[in-house]
Amino acid sequence: MKALLCKAFGPAETLVLEDLPSPEPKGNEVLIEVHAAGVNFPDSLIIEGKYQFKPPFPFAPGGEVAGVVKAVGAKVGHLKAGDRVMALTGWGGFAEEVAVPAYNVLPVPESMDLTGAAAFGMTYGTSMHALKQRASLQPGETLLVLGASGGVGLAAVEIGKAMGARVIAAASSAEKLEVARNAGADALINYNEQSLKDEVKKLTNSQGADVIYDPVGGALFEEAFRSIAWNGRFLVVGFAAGGGIPALPANLPLLKGASLVGVFWGAFAQRQAQDNADNFRQLFAWHAEGRLKPLVSQTFPLTRGGEAINILAKRKAVGKLVIQVR
Ligand SMILES: NC(=O)c1ccc[n+]([C@@H]2O[C@H](COP(=O)([O-])OP(=O)(O)OC[C@H]3O[C@@H](n4cnc5c(N)ncnc54)[C@H](OP(=O)(O)O)[C@@H]3O)[C@@H](O)[C@H]2O)c1
Repeated sequence: MKALLCKAFGPAETLVLEDLPSPEPKGNEVLIEVHAAGVNFPDSLIIEGKYQFKPPFPFAPGGEVAGVVKAVGAKVGHLKAGDRVMALTGWGGFAEEVAVPAYNVLPVPESMDLTGAAAFGMTYGTSMHALKQRASLQPGETLLVLGASGGVGLAAVEIGKAMGARVIAAASSAEKLEVARNAGADALINYNEQSLKDEVKKLTNSQGADVIYDPVGGALFEEAFRSIAWNGRFLVVGFAAGGGIPALPANLPLLKGASLVGVFWGAFAQRQAQDNADNFRQLFAWHAEGRLKPLVSQTFPLTRGGEAINILAKRKAVGKLVIQVR
């Protein structure tokens, strides 16, 4: 089987397509014939050795896939060859086959094709957990989403609407904001051209946003926190802007009676598997009703997987990029 391999930490141009033997599924594993692999921000970090996990060489990047089960290990009872599935792989997804622990594999609902399924799990799983378990977002509350046209950001816009919130989308260009508007955002802020704090104030009658979803970090982090409402919840999701981990003066949460809330979906999915499964039941139902429409803006063949990672890392992607393996 072919895999796009990282043989030493470095830029996406150093990935090479090679033949490897098919993986053997261990007792608790599922062997998947990969049809499509979603591209996510961590793929750009893992190949450079900048991610929290450093797999042994050679490894393929690719943290999530969708495909068809080829074989299952002896201890796997609930899945069988031929099932359509989506899975979180951590890495290894930019390949024709991947073996994954069964607890990270979900059946794909009928309403979803395999390309859409490869673009769904990580982003919608993260944003649902953030808005439901971490923020307790309530109908009628105002949700401000930064990086609102990106993978997790766009999912947060759609889920926020499905939960009954008023959604303010913030992003760095008019084109990106249009994508967020099409996903249902009620109001838009271009933080390259406008003051985030002043615009949130105008849009909320000076009350601020009840929940702030931040996958960007950098200089926007503190400015966004200064836009939070009384009793607000600020979700720390990621640091796509780079430039180090931002810090917050502790008087800011004090003055607003507000919370700074961490989001770590991967750990949640492991520690609270039942709650995560309930989240996906709801997400799949919303998808079947047409309320969630994952945006796959571009697909790439496996040979061009590095190019896809570069587009994401250079801030040029909207929605999701997907590697079409088959
Ligand atoms: N906590 C969790 O459980 C969890 C789960 C999944 C992902 N994440 C994290 O969430 C973040 C976003 O992931 P994603 O897959 O949604 O990425 P993405 O699709 O690339 O979206 C990131 C957004 O961040 C903004 N951004 C600002 N500065 C950037 C820069 N220098 N480079 C790239 N983007 C920049 C961009 O929007 P604008 O141009 O509009 O600013 C972009 O749309 C990452 O840090 C990822 O590690 C966290």
